[in-house]
Amino acid sequence: MTHSDSFEEKVREAIANPKNLGKMEDADAVGTVGGAGCGDMLRMWLKFKDQDGKKVIDKASFQSFGCETAIAAASLATELIKGKSTSEALALSGVEMAADLGPLPPTKIHCTTMVEDALRSAIAAHEGGSPETKASEPSTEGSPLTTQGSLLDQMQNAAKGGQGLRVVMLPPEEDSS
Ligand code: FES
Repeated sequence: MTHSDSFEEKVREAIANPKNLGKMEDADAVGTVGGAGCGDMLRMWLKFKDQDGKKVIDKASFQSFGCETAIAAASLATELIKGKSTSEALALSGVEMAADLGPLPPTKIHCTTMVEDALRSAIAAHEGGSPETKASEPSTEGSPLTTQGSLLDQMQNAAKGGQGLRVVMLPPEEDSS
């Protein structure tokens, strides 16, 4: 019954019913990033469509191994970018995409940056990726795209030469004994 405008409450509301959560089976592109400071991770899938001769984002989804703010921001972002061209989506900052959460605490800005980076990574993979990632042709029906598979599979594929996935990984912890 209570309605709070606090940042914490808005995050809680967003993650209580996150939008577009989960792997997208028929995605055209995927981007995965790791947060440099916190070690969290976010992956975003994009599906494009042709609209009035222009390629726009048909839908987006995400998975997050991260904090609640990142989940809330990704939920908002995947809704906001629907119908936008890649250049329109790229013009949005993480903070702008998470605007509905209200003013962000300084310690949470990087969480929205991770969403922005995942989006940029997916778009970059699509636009500059291998031909397999440019799956906007209708003839791809039924054929598995490179965006399928587990997170580990994707990372291994990316490490082997990249198949539409750009992974920004943190350096491994040093294990000097
Ligand atoms: Fe890591 Fe928010 S604390 S993404």
